[in-house]
Amino acid sequence: MAQSSKPAAVPAPASDVVSFIINGEPRELSLDPRQSLLDVLRERLDLTGTKKGCNQGACGACTILVNGKRILACLTLASMYSGARIETIEGLEKDGELHPLQRAFIEHDGLQCGFCTSGQIMSGLGCISEGHASSPQEIQYWMSGNICRCGAYPGIVAAVADAARRT
Ligand code: FES
Ligand code: FES
Repeated sequence: MAQSSKPAAVPAPASDVVSFIINGEPRELSLDPRQSLLDVLRERLDLTGTKKGCNQGACGACTILVNGKRILACLTLASMYSGARIETIEGLEKDGELHPLQRAFIEHDGLQCGFCTSGQIMSGLGCISEGHASSPQEIQYWMSGNICRCGAYPGIVAAVADAARRT
């Protein structure tokens, strides 16, 4: 006779306590070590300016700066970066003033729907600080991982070039 068997109990995931400096503010939280940094930013910290496009490293919409370097937050386990300094789009505006690169995106029409824009801006910041923004060709090459479905590339490149000249 067939017997009904209970499904095996799934153990609760362990949690890690991690701390970050996010946009200049210290934050500490307990999280599932399997969570991506993108999900932690969006779902735990309500920092939804960083977008989830492909969630597999192919579009660049989730680009942020970690310890000053560009990374794809969807491919990054948050628990591996405890202690890191994280910058997201929400941290760029200061005292009600947009960052010069944000202003340049507006001035050069570097966006249409805006879904890719926060990733483009964070990637543009990284591109400039790495010294990879001295020509349109160089900007195109070093930002080639940031995809824009609207095709706003001419404005994006012009905005990054303009901000690079001014900084
Ligand atoms: S959402 Fe991370 S690369 Fe597309
Ligand atoms: S502005 Fe629409 S995807 Fe880039």
